Amino acid sequence: MGRKPRVEYKGEDIENGVKILAKLMRESANTVVLTGAGMDTESNIPDFRGKNGWWKSIDPRLVASIDSFYENYELFHEFYTTRIKRLEDIKPHEGHYILADFERRGIIKSIATQNVSGLHHMAGSKKVYELHGNIKKIKCNQCNHETELKDFFNKKNCSLCGNLLRPDVVLFGEALPADVWALAENDIRKCDLLIVIGTSLEVYPVNQFPKIAKSKTVFINNEDISFDHEFDIKLIGKAKEVLKMMPST
Ligand code: OAD
Repeated sequence: MGRKPRVEYKGEDIENGVKILAKLMRESANTVVLTGAGMDTESNIPDFRGKNGWWKSIDPRLVASIDSFYENYELFHEFYTTRIKRLEDIKPHEGHYILADFERRGIIKSIATQNVSGLHHMAGSKKVYELHGNIKKIKCNQCNHETELKDFFNKKNCSLCGNLLRPDVVLFGEALPADVWALAENDIRKCDLLIVIGTSLEVYPVNQFPKIAKSKTVFINNEDISFDHEFDIKLIGKAKEVLKMMPST
C-alpha cells in the first residue's frame, strides 16, 4: 500500500503548505474561492461558530430565522441593528485586497461568499456571489421594494405596501437566492481549484460546494473541522496571515 499524501499544514510548517497552494494556483486555469465568516474576523467582525461567535451566546432561531421575524420582530430588529451598526467603521483587511488583486490579474475567477458584510466588494473584487445576501441592503419582506438603512433603523414600514422591513439576507428557514446560487454552482462545477477560506462548513447548502467541485480542493481555516469531504490540502492558520504568505507573482 502506498503512503497517503500529506494533507494538513500548520504552525511553522504552514509555509510548505502555502508553497503547494501556490503551485496548485499556477497550474489551475480556473480557480474559485469560497469564503465564510472566518474571512472577516481579522476585520473585527465576529464569526458565528468560532470561539467568540454569535451563536455561542445567542440561539440563531430566536434572532435570525424567518420565524423570529414573524414572531418577535423587536428582537429580530435589535439583533440586525446591532450587527449593521457594528459594521460602520469596518474595513477590508489585506487578505480581502489580495483576493481582489488575484481576480484583477486573472489568478482567480470569482468569489462565492456566505458573508453578508460586503467586504469583498469593498476591497475591489468584482465577481462576488453573495449567497447569503448583503446585510446593508434593506428591503420589504413582502414586496421586496428596496429602501434605505435609516428606514430600517427607525422601524418604518414599506412605503409601497406598508409591510415590515428587513435586511436582504437569507434567514434560517429561507432558500438561497436561486440566481446567485446557480452562478456560483456553475463556476464551482467548472473550476480546476476550489479554495475554501474561513468557514465551519456547517450550513447547508453552501457546505456542499467542496463536494460538487470536481477539482482540487484546499481548506484554509484556523481550526481543523471534520466534514465528509477530503480536501487535497488543509492550511490551519488565519486567513489574512495565510493569504499574505502567498507569493505575489
Ligand atoms: P462559522 O462561524 O460557522 O465558521 C467560521 C470558521 O472560521 C470557524 O471554523 C472559525 O474557527 C474560523 N475562523 C475564524 N476566524 C478565522 C480566521 N481569522 N482565519 C481562518 N479561520 C477563521 O461561519 P460560516 O461557516 O461562514 O448564515 O457560517 C455559515 C453561515 O452560518 C453564515 O453565513 C450565517 C451563519 O448562521 C446566515 O446568516 C444565513
